[in-house]
Amino acid sequence: MAKTLIIGACGQIGSELSAKLREKHGKDNIIASDIREGSEDIMNAGPFEVLDATDFHALQDTILHYDIDTVYLMAAMLSGTAEKFPMKAWQLNMDTLFNVLNLAKENKISKVFWPSSIAVFGPTTPKMDTPQQTVMEPSTVYGISKQAGERWCEYYFKRYGVDVRSIRYPGLISYKTPPGGGTTDYAIEIFHSAAKGEKYTSFLSEETALPMMYMDDAIKATIQLMEADADDVKVRSSYNLGGISFTPKVLADAIRKEIPDFEIDYEPDFRQPIADSWPSKIDDAEAQKDWNWQHEYDLEAMVSAMLKGVKSLK
Ligand SMILES: NC(=O)c1ccc[n+]([C@@H]2O[C@H](COP(=O)([O-])OP(=O)(O)OC[C@H]3O[C@@H](n4cnc5c(N)ncnc54)[C@H](O)[C@@H]3O)[C@@H](O)[C@H]2O)c1
Repeated sequence: MAKTLIIGACGQIGSELSAKLREKHGKDNIIASDIREGSEDIMNAGPFEVLDATDFHALQDTILHYDIDTVYLMAAMLSGTAEKFPMKAWQLNMDTLFNVLNLAKENKISKVFWPSSIAVFGPTTPKMDTPQQTVMEPSTVYGISKQAGERWCEYYFKRYGVDVRSIRYPGLISYKTPPGGGTTDYAIEIFHSAAKGEKYTSFLSEETALPMMYMDDAIKATIQLMEADADDVKVRSSYNLGGISFTPKVLADAIRKEIPDFEIDYEPDFRQPIADSWPSKIDDAEAQKDWNWQHEYDLEAMVSAMLKGVKSLK
């Protein structure tokens, strides 16, 4: 069985991806790694390495030591945090990608997953049903790094034959780990407040519509794309992934169907202009056509799964 390395395995996506891949392929075949130690669940459920993915030699040593075939690169600085530390974000997001792409170019690994984001789009992009190919003028550090990353992925595929695959994730909603500093984090925090019977103050305005997705769908899409035949993966920059689209007000209304006295107010902060520069709803026809993508969770199913999940943490 070929071995897989997950970089950034203690994060919001990496932790759930590690658990799913370990369940699917056996714990010894999935090596979780992160720059920091994570929960007992991640560290004890299979091999775990503390690894700084900006360190090329440390990364190469880990890959050779475990005879790694596939890498999922989930380490990055997210949109909200990146605006506070632009240079650090650029360095982390680009250096880790080049390290992994160059190891693939040297045939030390054969397959790479690297996530992009709806942040590659900008204020001049059509906001509704944003197509796969469109105007892309990102106005955030994070978006600029993701757009550059997409260009490099496609370049390494075309020039060196590197089998790199990518998804432009929308805002991902989950309860198992805290969110990592993104602009869509409100859609997670809101559930923690609602479940505790507390009022929630949203850092985005009530009418800010953004594309979102429940984590189970995102993990399913990631694995589906990685298992697709290479010939079917036509887009080598990054695939649009749609999911569901809603505003904080619509989300609060949906929560009120289960918790009728839930209260929300709105105090937009520095993340509002970031959200304003992003699309409201994404068209993912290419993913549907090329590797049969279909999301499962609609707004109601996501709200119900989140409330149940958040309550189970107590
Ligand atoms: N969560 C979302 O809604 C979302 C949406 C779009 C795209 N993405 C992308 O998906 C990926 C994962 O996102 P996430 O939400 O899980 O992020 P996260 O911040 O929750 O997790 C990132 C992990 O990377 C680790 N890390 C940081 N620097 C590292 C380094 N030098 N070496 C190794 N590990 C390091 C962190 O410790 C953290 O555990 C990122 O590329 C992100 O841009 C996420």
